[in-house]
Amino acid sequence: MIIRQTDFDLSSRNTFRMQVKCALFVEVTEEADLAALDWNALPQPVMVMGGGSNLLFTKDFPGTVLHVAICHSERSEESLSEESWALGAGVVFDDFCAWAAAEGLWGPENLSLIPGECGASAVQNIGAYGVEAKDIICGIRAYDRETGTFVHIDPADCGYGYRTSKFKTEWKGRYIITAVTYRLSKTPQPKLDYGGIRKALEDRGKAVSSEIAFASLRPLPSASPTGPSLLSGRGWPEISEDTAFPLSPQDIRDAIIDIRRKKLPAVEEVGSAGSFFCNPVISREHFARIEATAREDNGPEYSVPHFEVGDQIKVPAAWMIDQCGFKGARNGGAQVFHNQPLVIVNASGTASPADIIGLENQVIRAVEAKYGITLRPEVEHV
Ligand code: EPU
Repeated sequence: MIIRQTDFDLSSRNTFRMQVKCALFVEVTEEADLAALDWNALPQPVMVMGGGSNLLFTKDFPGTVLHVAICHSERSEESLSEESWALGAGVVFDDFCAWAAAEGLWGPENLSLIPGECGASAVQNIGAYGVEAKDIICGIRAYDRETGTFVHIDPADCGYGYRTSKFKTEWKGRYIITAVTYRLSKTPQPKLDYGGIRKALEDRGKAVSSEIAFASLRPLPSASPTGPSLLSGRGWPEISEDTAFPLSPQDIRDAIIDIRRKKLPAVEEVGSAGSFFCNPVISREHFARIEATAREDNGPEYSVPHFEVGDQIKVPAAWMIDQCGFKGARNGGAQVFHNQPLVIVNASGTASPADIIGLENQVIRAVEAKYGITLRPEVEHV
């Protein structure tokens, strides 16, 4: 089914709640609709939108906004240890995370509560708490506008990086993703190392001991026909049918939801597009200069949060924005979120694109002046 609406109000379709319109809004519910569309007759340009959760509309959009509302789910492969599921591009990503956790399948639990749809997860390589979508995507189906055919794309060819892929660069506008296949594990694969996860689990009364690192190496009895006998006699403990892994993907999902609810604004309550800026990656020399500035500000013992990325250093943009005193700063109806300054919110509910962009520029200029780093927005400006 193809739904078309001209002069369409996009305010309920973007999580920033910008009150803008597009010349034409088109929604398709089946793959065949994409082949049936008369692409040349559509107002140009054509942009594809998922949940509208990573976009800032800066003005009315003169072209066509296309929403792929294909929502099927289908198991494509199953082995003793894994299952692969193909999900329509329009499936809400967190519905998939919730379903996988409830089924006891491992993979997307750390990505819980990220707003948006499955199609966008493969474009943006969404990520949180030490996991990225690329870690679990094993196939992509798309409509190729250049050839008018449907194609399978291997994720290895997608040029995945931190919040980016070829869909955002050299392939922009070419492929319309219709389904994404995710690989889910039946055996425990807990990823607990990102700051705060273990604590959130403990706060929920879940024991997180070193046992877990070891336990995660053991196959579940049901997933391994020869597991117990193979393992016994090699210094591994016997696994009996009632040997249970101490954590479930649901436990981790619940802990991640706790962390996110404490730090991030709920999109149903206040408009935002999640992290507004990317975390910059800089040289060690540059980082040493930042440390020196931070110690002048905060005392000689102060330690700057950072992560090693190869021979470079990733510095949290949230920390720099915080150090520049921007927590809670306002510009018209826009505000730097008080709990997580990486997020800009539509605090008044009626903030204009100019309010948001004005605040964005103030933040960029302040961080540039203090640390010599030009923050790059993560949110796509349209
Ligand atoms: N920090 C401060 N002050 C604050 C908040 C944070 O100094 O008020 C510092 C802390 O040192 C903290 C560090 O910033 O340890 C990092 O904060 P956090 O763990 O919240 O992560 P982030 O780097 O700010 C990234 C993603 C988030 C994702 C979290 C968790 C980007 C651009 N953002 O934020 O993604 O949820 O990690 O994995 O990489 C999103 O994309 O919309 C999003 C929310």
